[in-house]
Amino acid sequence: MNHQPVEGFSKLSKQRKIDWLISEYLSNDRSYEQILQQYWNNDPDLQKLHEEFSENTISNFYMPYGIAPNFLIDGKLLALPMAVEESSVVAAASKAAKFWLDKGGFKTTIINTKKLGHTHFILNIEPHKLQHFFNFKLKKKLFEATEDITANMRKRGGGILNIRLIDKTEEMPNYFQLKASFDTVDSMGANFINSCLEQFGKTLKEEVANEADFTQAEKDSLQVVMNILSNFTPDCIVRAEVSCPIDELKDDSGISNEEFAWKFKQAVNIAEIEPYRATTHNKGIMNGVDAVVIATGNDFRATEACAHAYASRNGKYSSLTHCTTDNGIFRFWIDLPISVGVVGGLTNLHPLVKFSLALLGKPSAQELMSILAVSGLAQNFGALRSLVTTGIQKGHMKMHLFNILNQFGATEEEKQHFVTYFKDKTVSHHEVIAELENLRSKK
Ligand code: MEV
Repeated sequence: MNHQPVEGFSKLSKQRKIDWLISEYLSNDRSYEQILQQYWNNDPDLQKLHEEFSENTISNFYMPYGIAPNFLIDGKLLALPMAVEESSVVAAASKAAKFWLDKGGFKTTIINTKKLGHTHFILNIEPHKLQHFFNFKLKKKLFEATEDITANMRKRGGGILNIRLIDKTEEMPNYFQLKASFDTVDSMGANFINSCLEQFGKTLKEEVANEADFTQAEKDSLQVVMNILSNFTPDCIVRAEVSCPIDELKDDSGISNEEFAWKFKQAVNIAEIEPYRATTHNKGIMNGVDAVVIATGNDFRATEACAHAYASRNGKYSSLTHCTTDNGIFRFWIDLPISVGVVGGLTNLHPLVKFSLALLGKPSAQELMSILAVSGLAQNFGALRSLVTTGIQKGHMKMHLFNILNQFGATEEEKQHFVTYFKDKTVSHHEVIAELENLRSKK
């Protein structure tokens, strides 16, 4: 069936949107409406709040909100909130947290906290002439023109740290940048940075137009292409690490501590040199990072983009974590570039985000950076520990068992049967189905 485009969809009421979807795409089957309604919140104010987060909302899309307890981070014991749909992620985090609990836990260091943004512009001019104008006139004007925008941020200890002119003309004709660095304190700072940059774009236009040393042709060639923050923040880095004597690694899978440490380090080294493995390795890290990013109301697309850009910073995609086993000490760490906030955005609006931040003891943005890096490191530790010992499927399929059983509408009694049935066996999809048929045929 060919569908018709719709005019003014955003202006329709929620009910009219649903009616249109059901008639246009769902063969007028009203049972689909019930699915949407099931996920509406009973409290109309709460429902409205969620609808106003984004456009054209017709329902809510739930994600499990779980807790990974026993994280000892810089001497503080925390329970991490994790919003994630993938089975095993919360279990792996909890297991890794417990493993490191009696070994001093996780230690973190904020390496730096600089955020970046650019005004990208085209100007047909001799680069030295532009640099002179930037150094002696423009830079000062850019700071002055943004004084109102930065006033509050400066009161909180942040603001614009520096502005530089970058000559990109060798890579693209007449392309220059104003590259600015910012300290956004406890906010992620996207709105603040973009407001400053948009002002830079305006000031640049005014100052170029008024510059007596520029020819008319030079002035006319100016095109401010765009003003936008960069989600790549290689100077906003947190390190999280764990370490212990190899003798204390005591893995319960049956291999010796030395063999475990050796295989674990090999697994990290493989991810350091092999992009195919590094992608999966880092995906596992982001399982841990994103779950806490989402639970704390931050932007997981930004953290993903940044992490992967950083993983490629040397020209080849590589691991975000590293491991050494020198002098009998196992050391495992991550350097994670991550820009997050604990004020602004969803943080004051979404009730579960408020809960998450309260649970974490109302962290500063830097403390949240530490928690996120720990969550990623723990997740990677859990994944590699399974991979180099029992294999990933044992734990994965155990968690997946309930997903399979739910698909077949298993009762609580049947679920209990399966927990016992697979106690000492690896779960497989076909064995679940066979045993379910067997069980049901006996009834
Ligand atoms: C699955 O979501 C993540 C893992 O594949 C990560 C890894 O292989 O390191 C288990």
